[in-house]
Amino acid sequence: MPNPFYDRDIVSIRDFTRNDLEYVFSATDKIRSLEASEKSELGKGRTLGYIFYEPSTRTRMSFEAAMASLGGSSIGISDLKSSSVEKGESLADTIRVIDLYSDIIVLRHPMDGSSRFAAELSKNPVINAGSGSEEHPTQALLDLYTILKEKGRIDGLSIAIVGDLKYGRTVYSLLYGLTNYKVNVHLVAPPLLQIRKESIYEVHSKLRIQEHSTLDEILPELDVIYVTRIQKERFPDLQEYEKVRGTYTIDTSTLAKAKPDVSVMHPLPRMDEISHSVDSTKNAVYFRQAGYGKELRAAVLALMLNEKPF
Ligand code: NCD
Repeated sequence: MPNPFYDRDIVSIRDFTRNDLEYVFSATDKIRSLEASEKSELGKGRTLGYIFYEPSTRTRMSFEAAMASLGGSSIGISDLKSSSVEKGESLADTIRVIDLYSDIIVLRHPMDGSSRFAAELSKNPVINAGSGSEEHPTQALLDLYTILKEKGRIDGLSIAIVGDLKYGRTVYSLLYGLTNYKVNVHLVAPPLLQIRKESIYEVHSKLRIQEHSTLDEILPELDVIYVTRIQKERFPDLQEYEKVRGTYTIDTSTLAKAKPDVSVMHPLPRMDEISHSVDSTKNAVYFRQAGYGKELRAAVLALMLNEKPF
């Protein structure tokens, strides 16, 4: 199969077929098996340009670390106050300029549609690193890769997605990605944070989905519990946030009711939705998940920058 990612944008995981996903996962395995000296040829002399209009720790750092591991460099803006955005420069002009200075653009922005807009403007490929509450496609790629590595398969699993299903963009990208597999999905959220029906219109015909407001009754059948942070910053009214904060907490008593090998995942950052007592259990996958993120992003960058990287 020819490399489907060469010189291509990654705006939505909806654009990925199962073959595309498997291509990325085997490229990630390949990256993990390469010697540092071989890896560092794949991005030599190339530059990643990023701009983050919202906070980030893992996404930005893992892209930078990934680019460095390929022998490339990164330039970018994560403190908007030090950039011309502070003077009122538009997203369009900012993207046009980053496009001149780099080979790949990584963008995080609070508006839905921002990455699609940037991709239409720029000559070089754009990676969506989070667009409003719409999507975060590389997070979903690393989430699916994590499930595959931890469980040995994705087909046939029972997966609960818990927490802020209304505003959590990682939830939507994960659901779109999961439509390529045969899985049972349980959506668990309080009434105020239920999934946006209009955003999962096509998902319903491809996935077995059940909605719940509590986790307890389904715990014994779950293979994966994917926990999300309540997205405080997206609430139009903070009083509404106060009503739902702390709704779910996964702790060792939750694990006691689940399968012994249940995997607890989280895109991070976590607040109080996973107790620190879970960290030392074999079920805690979230930090390994963040680690896979660097390797998966290195694979994605290698595929975008080279027609035949391996
Ligand atoms: C997520 C995001 O930005 O959507 N973070 C991440 O990239 N791992 C999740 C979150 O902020 O809760």
